[in-house]
Amino acid sequence: MSTPLNGKTALVTGSTSGIGRAIADALAERGAHVIVSGRNAERGEQAVAGIREAGGKADFIAADLASADSARALAEQARAVTGQIDILVNNAGVFPEGFTVDTAEDVFDTVYNTNVKAPFFLVAALVPAMIERGSGAVVNISSFAADKAAPDRAAYSSSKAALNNLTKAWAKQYGPSGVRVNSVAPGPVLPEEVQAAIAGDPRASAVLDALPARRFGLPREIGAAVAYLASDDAAFVHGAFLSVDGGAGLA
Ligand SMILES: NC(=O)c1ccc[n+]([C@@H]2O[C@H](COP(=O)([O-])OP(=O)(O)OC[C@H]3O[C@@H](n4cnc5c(N)ncnc54)[C@H](OP(=O)(O)O)[C@@H]3O)[C@@H](O)[C@H]2O)c1
Repeated sequence: MSTPLNGKTALVTGSTSGIGRAIADALAERGAHVIVSGRNAERGEQAVAGIREAGGKADFIAADLASADSARALAEQARAVTGQIDILVNNAGVFPEGFTVDTAEDVFDTVYNTNVKAPFFLVAALVPAMIERGSGAVVNISSFAADKAAPDRAAYSSSKAALNNLTKAWAKQYGPSGVRVNSVAPGPVLPEEVQAAIAGDPRASAVLDALPARRFGLPREIGAAVAYLASDDAAFVHGAFLSVDGGAGLA
């Protein structure tokens, strides 16, 4: 268990399901007040209820991260809950399959709006107050696909490469003011129930055969990595890319 996060407020985008929900759970378990966000209010309230039942603190704010304005509005509403955001996790992401020639403009725009533009304007909205306080942590959720490049998801993998570049730029710019910016790069991660449902499927087996870990990752394994980077245990960690990918990113 990493250093507690008591007294901190964390905004986790895309925490209505999957990895984001596990990140929200991990931060709340360590004492942070978590702002759960996403478009789906029903799943968002379920995530909040789960955290509260476990003794943690959480609130849900609905947001469709389709524009700079929606990112700014989420930042403003999230800040109003406790008065400040100490930890920002840019997790919301979309990853549609499709070769370049088959990718429609609106799909490309959705990928870049969600995966790049939203983190960009959330950082712009929330980091200045962190700088004033002299502390804060931003964790961007990237992907092993960012460096490898995925021909059948070129828009997606390039969006994560752009996010990696932003991680470096922000780490250089904001580190001297006490704001650490880091990244976690998951490999193939699926909730336990999904793993059980696809067991034996030839496509799943092909993924596992190519993976040194020979298994899919679990969302909580990403949550633990984010909790570490957000905590004071990682006080000397700036601009890091932490692969939690079962070896998927290896050449
Ligand atoms: N799972 C993997 O194998 C894997 C591997 C590498 C990287 N990643 C990265 O990990 C992150 C989470 O992935 P996941 O597997 O947990 O996916 P997921 O289960 O599909 O969850 C995606 C989350 O993003 C939110 N979201 C999507 N579009 C949004 C929008 N326009 N506005 C606001 N929220 C939006 C969704 O919330 P709503 O539906 O409520 O809007 C949902 O909570 C992504 O950035 C993904 O690229 C995942």
